[in-house]
Amino acid sequence: MLIVGICGSPKSERSNTRFLLEHALEAVSDSQTLMLNIRDFNIHHCTGCDSCVRKKPCPQSADDDMPEIEKKLIDADGIIIAAPSYFTSVPGVLKDFIDRSRAMKMNDHQLKDKVFGAITYAGLRYGGQEHVVDVLNRYALGQGMIVVGSVGSPVKHGTFGSGSLQTDEGSWRSAKDDDLAVKGSTLLGMRVAEIAKRFRNSGE
Ligand SMILES: Cc1cc2nc3c(=O)[nH]c(=O)nc-3n(C[C@H](O)[C@H](O)[C@H](O)COP(=O)(O)O)c2cc1C
Repeated sequence: MLIVGICGSPKSERSNTRFLLEHALEAVSDSQTLMLNIRDFNIHHCTGCDSCVRKKPCPQSADDDMPEIEKKLIDADGIIIAAPSYFTSVPGVLKDFIDRSRAMKMNDHQLKDKVFGAITYAGLRYGGQEHVVDVLNRYALGQGMIVVGSVGSPVKHGTFGSGSLQTDEGSWRSAKDDDLAVKGSTLLGMRVAEIAKRFRNSGE
């Protein structure tokens, strides 16, 4: 079984969402995992030419890295996307990937039945986390994926990996000091793997 994590932060090793995604993938001990940092790939913008709607090859894919990413996602049983809040939505580098992946949808829903989970991180305590997750979950639904949330303590944990640089006291931290964000991301990774495994074992 393969779980692919997509990190949508334009930042490198210092990325907080990447740190949380690493935790989610580490929690998937009995599966293969793969991390794709979207910043490392050359992804052209979608030009809205609608070639994909006509099931023609995407002209933008002729000389960028989308075909390579698509191949990896088609092999996956589960997909987790982690994205920071940028003006309460996803960063442009990730949106480019999202828009370009329309070709997979138009090609008979190539991502159908992949199990999906979302992680986010924001600067502010109330910095648009829920909106970012909503954007990601709706994206996954549009691709025909099976959206799941984390299931932990009903009184301690939310339904997705999420946190903030800002503490309740108004000081600052990184994700590694945000226990709830780490736990939520770990639980999410476990849940994606659990449902993907059940789906795979059902033989469908
Ligand atoms: C262009 C830009 C827009 C941002 N917009 C928001 C925002 O709307 N709300 C918020 O809480 N933080 C915002 N932030 C802060 C990031 O969400 C925060 O730094 C986050 O930790 C970045 O995640 P990363 O370390 O994985 O890149 C913004 C940062 C940038 C660079």
